[in-house]
Amino acid sequence: MKKLFIASSVAYLAMTGLLAQAADQAVIDRYSKTCAVCHAAGAAGAPRTGDAAQWAPRMEKGMDTLVTSVDKGMNAMPPKGMCFDCSPEEFKALIEYMVEAK
Ligand code: HEC
Repeated sequence: MKKLFIASSVAYLAMTGLLAQAADQAVIDRYSKTCAVCHAAGAAGAPRTGDAAQWAPRMEKGMDTLVTSVDKGMNAMPPKGMCFDCSPEEFKALIEYMVEAK
């Protein structure tokens, strides 16, 4: 009985891990098709993906302000950052990904 419980917990943990990975992959796919065009190399003054120092002053504005900047556009960044069907939640996930990416 105890063995069965352990086996099912392991299966459960493996499954939640896979789900988290699938979500990350969706964010990464979106990122590579949209934001990456400018943010991967830091084109036109865009804060570079994975460059914590460049993102720190942006993050200080708070996530809501950053999501609004993307939605409305900011200087060289076009409205919606070229992801026209992204929701605010997706912008948030994309920003978090760019800040934390290595
Ligand atoms: C065409 C180029 C381009 C694309 C595509 C792009 N960005 Fe940007 N982004 C920029 C530039 C340039 C800046 C810096 C703007 C400034 O500070 O003048 C910027 C700044 C930002 C900021 C900081 C805003 C602030 O208030 O400081 C965030 C957040 C951001 N981008 C997120 C995204 C996300 C998310 C995507 C993809 C959905 C994206 N960007 C796509 C060019 C781009």
